[in-house]
Amino acid sequence: MTSPTAVATKDELTPEHAEMVAATLPLVGANIDEITSVFYRRLFDRHPELLRTLFNRGNQAQGVQQRALAASIATFATHLVDPTLPHPAELLSRIGHKHASLGVTPDQYPIVHEHLFAAIVQVLGADVVTADVAEAWDRVYWIMAQTLIDLETSLYAEAGVTAGDVYRRARVLGRVDDPSGAVLVTVSAVGGASPSSFAAQYVSVGVTLPDGARQLRQYSLVGGGAGEMTFAVKPVGAVGGSPAGEVSNWIRDNLRVGDLLDVTLPFGDLPAPRPGAPLVLVSAGIGVTPMIGILEALVVEAPDTHVRILHADRSARTHPLRQRQHELATRLPNASLEIWYEDGGPGAHTGRLELDAAGLPEGAEVYLCGGNGFVRAVREQLEAGGVPAGRVHCELFSPDAWLV
Ligand SMILES: Cc1cc2nc3c(=O)[nH]c(=O)nc-3n(C[C@H](O)[C@H](O)[C@H](O)COP(=O)(O)OP(=O)(O)OC[C@H]3O[C@@H](n4cnc5c(N)ncnc54)[C@H](O)[C@@H]3O)c2cc1C
Ligand code: HEM
Repeated sequence: MTSPTAVATKDELTPEHAEMVAATLPLVGANIDEITSVFYRRLFDRHPELLRTLFNRGNQAQGVQQRALAASIATFATHLVDPTLPHPAELLSRIGHKHASLGVTPDQYPIVHEHLFAAIVQVLGADVVTADVAEAWDRVYWIMAQTLIDLETSLYAEAGVTAGDVYRRARVLGRVDDPSGAVLVTVSAVGGASPSSFAAQYVSVGVTLPDGARQLRQYSLVGGGAGEMTFAVKPVGAVGGSPAGEVSNWIRDNLRVGDLLDVTLPFGDLPAPRPGAPLVLVSAGIGVTPMIGILEALVVEAPDTHVRILHADRSARTHPLRQRQHELATRLPNASLEIWYEDGGPGAHTGRLELDAAGLPEGAEVYLCGGNGFVRAVREQLEAGGVPAGRVHCELFSPDAWLV
């Protein structure tokens, strides 16, 4: 695991620009959804290859990426206008690691700038976006962009590669179908990443779909070492009017041992546990994967760690990597495992996970992963129980504006 790279905003707005941004923030905020929709339409019209090969078209179809981008800029602008507000370091770190895992490079920032600002003018009108207003928001964009570029540059340097050079062809060495429906895929390691750097990190995996588009998705590593990396993919089913997930189902239906995949170097901003600190690992559904990665690392590196493992699922049948989670818990002498199944089952609580936040070990570091609603609910329970926000480390599997 890596420590989160410190993210500091070096530049500030001039008082004049801060005043201009503060005055127009409500207007930009009120129209930000439309601005980002126009932005992405323009961007993909001019650069269709970006939607086919880099951006996640499932997220685009749902609108989640648009909202996350909008919320991140609004949050950053709010912080620049009032630096007494908490610095959005967690947000920037998440974006920077995601960008690095996709190979985003500094020369792409002017492209995003061009279409974002054209969208702002198109939506708000040239009479509102005067030269002064445009100049002030330009500063906001470039201060944020430079902060991200600096972070991404340091992540590429840490990985020992030039900017954006994160993609490798990896051969599929193994495929195991878990009883839960998840597929465990083992590939040849890329870039010589060391086994301990695997825990709680993720790779971007690229597959070419039947229409020729190369689509990327992130998968958390559940194992690594000896020239290998393993991740687990839970196929996303069609629900209501929403289609089945493209990449996860393609992997389940098509991937065979011996195939070649695009797999990136591992990235991810979950911090390494403080040595000696008790851990609490809270997961739901396929959110178990980063926890399995952490447990695998603990077995090798710090088996005496006190760790409480809490997992929620629909039932034992849907619980991904159930067997492996039990095995890992029994190999750690100071670990306990507690399960909640909505449908009930032997050895499990019936119903939704309930966290006794006040009863957690003193000084515990909490790792949290699952659907966005689950993560939000548990985070609120932890906050209400007095667990400091700095001790709660969340992994989200889809962009979500609430984190900002
Ligand atoms: C850091 C990170 C780590 C992750 N780790 C794991 C992991 O270890 N294991 C794992 O299984 N997953 C993991 N994920 C999630 C994974 O990256 C994918 O998001 C997941 O596999 C779904 O991808 P997909 O292509 O199958 O679905 P997509 O095709 O992207 O669809 C996603 C959702 O969007 C909906 N959708 C798509 N198109 C439309 C439309 N036109 N209208 C309405 N709705 C639509 C789908 O119905 C579906 O619910 C992780 C994600 C992140 C960010
Ligand atoms: C200041 C400029 C930028 C900001 C504020 C920004 C913000 C964001 C945010 C908030 C996310 C979602 C992170 C998450 O929660 O998963 C994201 C993801 C992403 N960004 Fe950026 N970004 C910027 C520049 C760029 C550039 C220059 C590119 C390259 C063309 C880029 C490509 C991407 C891609 C491909 C994703 C993943 C999309 C997805 O998976 O749906 N971004 N960015």
